[in-house]
Amino acid sequence: MFRPNGMMISKTQDELVLMKEAAMLVSQTLAEVAAVLKPGMTTMQLDALCNQFVRDKGAIPSFYQYHGYPHNICASVNDVVVHGFPNNIPIKEGDIVSIDMGVIWKGWHGDHAYTFAMGNVDEASLQLIRVTKESLYLGIEKATAGNRVGDISFAIQSHTEKKHGYGVVRELVGHGLGRSLHEDPQVPNYGKRGTGPKLKENLVLAIEPMINMGKKEVYTESDGWTVKTIDGKPSVHFEHDVCVKKDKAIILSDYSIIEAAEQKNPYLNTSYYSATKNA
Ligand code: MF3
Ligand code: CO
Repeated sequence: MFRPNGMMISKTQDELVLMKEAAMLVSQTLAEVAAVLKPGMTTMQLDALCNQFVRDKGAIPSFYQYHGYPHNICASVNDVVVHGFPNNIPIKEGDIVSIDMGVIWKGWHGDHAYTFAMGNVDEASLQLIRVTKESLYLGIEKATAGNRVGDISFAIQSHTEKKHGYGVVRELVGHGLGRSLHEDPQVPNYGKRGTGPKLKENLVLAIEPMINMGKKEVYTESDGWTVKTIDGKPSVHFEHDVCVKKDKAIILSDYSIIEAAEQKNPYLNTSYYSATKNA
């Protein structure tokens, strides 16, 4: 849906330092969310908190007015896949809430996302969260120089669709990241091994599986942004910023600080961790 500029741009070491800082700023923001999130809060309150946190650090929320997007974060609850508008509906026990945030820091983009389980969430949704997070790490394992984009795509699709029978969203994809929010290559969450652009060292990718419990089909609401599952079943979204390397990708963003805050928060359900492989 977004149109990158046709170039895959490897970053220099100096640029990667700044991109790491940008990614970590998003991680810190999501960790703040993890610390305060509780039933009764609204996603509009989270938007204000994230905006303030990022601006206090001297960075700019990047989604605001991106192609006209009217908010600072995307807040996608339950059957909203991605690009949900923050609103004044109280978050409730049993919801699953994906928060996606982007920043510009010294000219460089950070863009990542995490899905939270509000308390007593049904087992099927917890499993969807676990498997989607696992698939992100399986994709990241393939983000090495000389591999192709399709190797990442295949790893994600195999784990989610083939192994667990979930629906992999086709309309939205991961992407290169740098001075622009969306650079080449596109990184689909479905595809064939050994196909697609060849990965070069020091490319930065935003890998972001969007996985539906039911059918893969989605539609966009009349607001022009909110993407929902066609069958009304829940969807989960995780996103990391990673730097392609020869032997093993470097994850620039960091879930460990989000997970630490999440585990301290009595309103959030982290019971699915016990089965999670954490990279
Ligand atoms: N992570 C999402 C993406 O890469 C966020 C974009 S939302 C927008 O597409 F508002 F900025 F468009
Ligand atoms: Co993204």
